Amino acid sequence: MSDLQLLDREPSAEAKSILDMDRAVFRDSFERRHFTLGHALAGSELFQLPRLIELARDTAETRPTDLYFDAGDIEIGQRWASSPKSSFPIDETIRRIETARAWIILRQAERASAYGKLLEACMAEIFAAAGPGIEKRISKREVIIFITSPRRITTYHIDRQCNFILQVHGDKQINVFDRNDRDVLPERELEQFWTVDNNAAIYKPQLQDRADVITLRPGLGVHLPVNAPHWLQNGDDISITVSINFQFLDQERASLYRANFFLRKLGIDPVPPWVSPARDAWKRPFGDLAYRIRQVTRGRTPGA
Ligand SMILES: [Fe+2]
Repeated sequence: MSDLQLLDREPSAEAKSILDMDRAVFRDSFERRHFTLGHALAGSELFQLPRLIELARDTAETRPTDLYFDAGDIEIGQRWASSPKSSFPIDETIRRIETARAWIILRQAERASAYGKLLEACMAEIFAAAGPGIEKRISKREVIIFITSPRRITTYHIDRQCNFILQVHGDKQINVFDRNDRDVLPERELEQFWTVDNNAAIYKPQLQDRADVITLRPGLGVHLPVNAPHWLQNGDDISITVSINFQFLDQERASLYRANFFLRKLGIDPVPPWVSPARDAWKRPFGDLAYRIRQVTRGRTPGA
């Protein structure tokens, strides 16, 4: 079914549904723990390679900061800054995707209207499942499209977004860890992530057996809460994956981890967030202020 057919079908609640989520699982697990879901995007014209080459070329020309791609061998725990660069421009990299060992990210795809419609349709379903009040709590909705060469790894990391990852083409294994497991994801890594280093989460091979390994196939997706550690291994085919994601307006997680980052800098071993409401009450403004001062003194826009 084409994207337009998918998005413009007659208004029957069932026919319009893109995400297929168990309501009870959603209520129990949304933004707490990962869970799988079905979706109707496999086969959509929006995610055929010629269409994606067009989108990638347009992104490169008009919004180059929304395009990332690299190509080459990479380790699970490798930092993004040391990723191998592609020797070809983006459209050529996509054409050579079978052999390029590439990882391509098209951010803010919703700036193109067809993907914008898709985002709004998915968000409406997420709002309906989450119940009243959720819409006011979120910001920065986004569609990200990942195009990945056969066997390519996506390195271990955590995200600041709440994610619905939808597999559209090819099979891919996602390894997801519990964000509350402090052996896997220590407080210090969270403090550094929210304050100074997007790559702060460090892969620990000795804890690999704690991962839930899910094979994503076209039509299957997974919800990842904010900060759930994960890495991916693509199968033998090209993979096309769509992420419907958003950030929460309330910055509590960021504020508390930033406060603890600066307290630790002062030689204090801080109490983790959400253990002491009284401490959290003063840490929120303290974390925000200290972070803002750090950004300003380093010549960055506060909140960036
Ligand atoms: Fe991610």
